[in-house]
Amino acid sequence: KLIVSDLDVKDKKVLIRVDFNVPIKNGVIGNDNRIVAALPTIKYVVENGGKAILFSHLGRVKKEEDKKELSLRPVAERLADLIKKPVTFVPATRGAQLEEAIDKLNDGDILLVENTRFEDLDGKKESGNDPELGKYWASLGDVYVNDAFGTAHRSHASNVGIASNMDKAAAGFLLEKEIKFLGNAVDNPKHPFVAILGGAKVSDKIGVIDHLLGKADKVIIGGGMTYTFYAAKGIKIGNSLVEKDKIELAKTIIEKAGDKLVLPTDSVVAEKFDNDVPNKVVDGDIPDGYMALDIGPKSVALFKDVLKDAKTVVWNGPMGVFEMSNYAKGTLEVGEFLGTLTDATTIVGGGDSTAAVQQLGVADKLTHISTGGGASLEYLEGKTLPGIAAVSDK
Ligand code: 3PG
Repeated sequence: KLIVSDLDVKDKKVLIRVDFNVPIKNGVIGNDNRIVAALPTIKYVVENGGKAILFSHLGRVKKEEDKKELSLRPVAERLADLIKKPVTFVPATRGAQLEEAIDKLNDGDILLVENTRFEDLDGKKESGNDPELGKYWASLGDVYVNDAFGTAHRSHASNVGIASNMDKAAAGFLLEKEIKFLGNAVDNPKHPFVAILGGAKVSDKIGVIDHLLGKADKVIIGGGMTYTFYAAKGIKIGNSLVEKDKIELAKTIIEKAGDKLVLPTDSVVAEKFDNDVPNKVVDGDIPDGYMALDIGPKSVALFKDVLKDAKTVVWNGPMGVFEMSNYAKGTLEVGEFLGTLTDATTIVGGGDSTAAVQQLGVADKLTHISTGGGASLEYLEGKTLPGIAAVSDK
């Protein structure tokens, strides 16, 4: 299993798959964490005399008009600012324009290819891993580096396809770091190992709950999915979120998990899904006409008690509707407490929880914030991710 620093990149055209799938609105990038996270690999290649040729998808390209909003041009500009070097942006994913731009590169130069999913307009070539496309992109370079952890759960032409057509493929530093933290946490954790799983839906998290119940010492549940578990236990849920067709499944999980499973004991409730209506804290049963929007203070205290001796913590999914200030406290307090666990490895994975810890300002105190949304979830489910398998096969 190679990583980028094992490769001789000098004078080489190094094809690098990154995940620059960042939020962009009207040409303005909302959060550039994924670009920042890719810098070590890109810097390594250019500082060692390689030509960095970057590929990424952005959003989901379904019709011709989507191309306007989904160009990677703003990302090229941000990357140039961050890396303090010019970045050649090529507004094409194939053809003479791209090939000539690559020919013109000097050692240490950086080029970003247009959104690889523009190829999806022609029969899902990128996201369907079209064999000709992977072969063509592979023909543009000498070596391949995959640093796109966020895309590792997808089998695309630009990750799996290129890798399978190259003699040499390596993981980038970000991919390596993600595997190190998430992989060690799940397969080789220091105990006590506590998982905190939140978010709205049990159905999104069932694979993770199942897998981590087999690995962790305790699994804490929070967020909207709590109330499907409440329903399974016969606790009243009022108008709280519930997945009726998952109540039986929740019962099975509760039985199987025994005292490993830790559920909230109180909730912050309101009559409407609205930050500006009165709210109150209730123990157990949610009264008729009310919905639960955050965990309550007793739950926070209970969770802290479970977490205080932990040596490994994996957190996926917020504890409440953290986007609304009156229901952010549970997520914030759990995040802040994790920040005080200096003896523990604390890892956050998944789009919403990452957004939560960043928005609430607790990200800096944690050991690792994954750049993966779906990818970190699938990784925590114990699945083999095609983007990782493609480079580790080499
Ligand atoms: C992500 O943001 O999870 C990845 O970049 C994958 O994007 P996708 O869900 O559109 O495939």
